[in-house]
Amino acid sequence: MKKKQTSLEGQVAVVSGGAHGIGLGIVERLLQLGAKVVASDIDRDGLAVSRERLAKSFGTSIAVQAADLSKERGAQALHRAVAKRFGPAQILVNCAGGGVIRPFLEHTPETLKATIDRNLWTVIWCSRVFLPDMIGAKYGRIVNIGADSVRNGLPAHAGYNAAKGGMHGLTTGLAREFALNGITVNTVAPCAVNTEVWAKVKKSNPRLAQAFVDVIPMGRVGEIEEVASMVGYLALPEAAFVTGQVISVNGGSAML
Ligand SMILES: NC(=O)c1ccc[n+]([C@@H]2O[C@H](COP(=O)([O-])OP(=O)(O)OC[C@H]3O[C@@H](n4cnc5c(N)ncnc54)[C@H](O)[C@@H]3O)[C@@H](O)[C@H]2O)c1
Repeated sequence: MKKKQTSLEGQVAVVSGGAHGIGLGIVERLLQLGAKVVASDIDRDGLAVSRERLAKSFGTSIAVQAADLSKERGAQALHRAVAKRFGPAQILVNCAGGGVIRPFLEHTPETLKATIDRNLWTVIWCSRVFLPDMIGAKYGRIVNIGADSVRNGLPAHAGYNAAKGGMHGLTTGLAREFALNGITVNTVAPCAVNTEVWAKVKKSNPRLAQAFVDVIPMGRVGEIEEVASMVGYLALPEAAFVTGQVISVNGGSAML
């Protein structure tokens, strides 16, 4: 089938971390563009609530699959479920993650490991299980959700940056490796975004929250839709010549 340049009609997308926040916004955006979408998350109940809401507008185009994607077997189970429900995926958005934001020496071995598991291993396993179908089809779009803190050095972000920086590095490596297979690999890097997580940071640590806003020349945090819109573009056929990029959606918090 010839792909329409500015629509995702006839395509299948998978979004990790799709139960909440930015991931849920991306799921909705891809559905609006015409894709069939499988949202996956470790939070089974959150997925069920989101699926029920989205099904009202998008019917059977939305499906969900609970999985711990920091484990290879979780990613493999997701791959099987997507193939069974909709067929091979053309689009993978790696949005599962979330930071344990604290000064480096206040981390425990457990919080450091959880940070790397959530933000890096999820991307590695999901990319490994979905890439072979994309290679077979000579077409694919992988979009990762990284972090602008890797570029602007936000306070208390060292552990998180280690994970997200790994993801940024995976982006350029995979983009190079699969450039001749019709597959693009990019990362969208937000600074602070107006999510439930952000609301909690503002409440629990207003000084830290203010420090995040202070690095943003536009003087505000981003909106979920502003991130989802960039992901939507990168997922389209017309974005064919954009690969290996880390694109900040950040109100100018890092420039270039
Ligand atoms: N909110 C921000 O300000 C901000 C800024 C920069 C980057 N990000 C990144 O954007 C993404 C979405 O963040 P959010 O703010 O919407 O947070 P969020 O916590 O609402 O979303 C993260 C999702 O990932 C899921 N998840 C975590 N570990 C998982 C695992 N092992 N397997 C499957 N799912 C798992 C969570 O259940 C959650 O639904 C994250 O990767 C985050 O690091 C967020």
